[in-house]
Amino acid sequence: MKEVVSSSWSTGNTSIDIVIGLMLITSIMVLCVSILMLRVIKFYVKEAANPKPFSTPEEKERVRLEQEALEAAKPKKPSIWQKLMQLKPLEEEGSLVMEHKFDGIAELNNPTPAWFMVLFYGTIIFAIGYLLNYHVFGYGKLQDEEYVAEIEQAAVDKAAFLANPVNAASAVNENNVVQSKDAKILESGAALFANRCTPCHGDHGQGIVGPNLTDEYWLHGGKIQSVFKTIKYGVPEKGMIAWEKSLSAQQIADLANYVLSLQGTKPAGAKAPQGEKE
Ligand code: HEC
Repeated sequence: MKEVVSSSWSTGNTSIDIVIGLMLITSIMVLCVSILMLRVIKFYVKEAANPKPFSTPEEKERVRLEQEALEAAKPKKPSIWQKLMQLKPLEEEGSLVMEHKFDGIAELNNPTPAWFMVLFYGTIIFAIGYLLNYHVFGYGKLQDEEYVAEIEQAAVDKAAFLANPVNAASAVNENNVVQSKDAKILESGAALFANRCTPCHGDHGQGIVGPNLTDEYWLHGGKIQSVFKTIKYGVPEKGMIAWEKSLSAQQIADLANYVLSLQGTKPAGAKAPQGEKE
């Protein structure tokens, strides 16, 4: 199925979009150049109508001095840095000089900025609060107590999770799986085996690329736990897929039970035994 993307800006065809984009950029450039040209033409027309004489060096000097005087008259604004650090400008430092001098070196009385002092006293107040909360009254939990509480909570959550039969099924793993000969389980296993496993292990588990699953010889163990583990994690380097991502734990358990139910069925064309006898 093709996804339809609708956008008022896109035609859906990349090359047409690029051409339209280029045309747009070109027209904007043409517009900018025409505006510039218009201003140049205006300037020339104005000059032609009443020509201005070139300014003399004296005149230039006068304008420069005027501008400098204007600059100097402007009150200086303190920079952000000066404001933040509450620093006085260099010209006013004279008022900060302290009484004493040593070897002709004077000291300035530059007070610490208010925000810094707020932070400083803030940390002291916070520390007192922290001490009272965690170590004097014991309202707050310390790290190790937090850990214990979380572990206890996890145990409660786990019990609640497993109380639900649906979840209990997915809690099966290679350590707690038990073999079953229940017809329903074997049926489910057989259904899962068809298509998924038959290409490599054969319709009856007789083995093709994968080994014969009906004999007593096993490469990775023939106990229910071992078979479960092999199916779950696979043997990727040998071509046996790990099924844990595509199948649920219960499905893997059903498959393992089904595989074990094939023991001794002696299908036709069975592959030669591989691995250890169990
Ligand atoms: C792409 C091919 C392929 C598919 C699909 C496949 N297997 Fe395998 N399987 C193998 C190969 C190859 C081995 C042997 C691994 C080795 O040599 O260690 C193997 C090994 C096994 C073993 C271990 C046998 C032993 O002797 O210990 C079991 C059990 C098994 N597969 C079950 C399954 C099940 C169940 C499925 C379907 C869910 C499945 N396999 C799908 C290729 C496949």
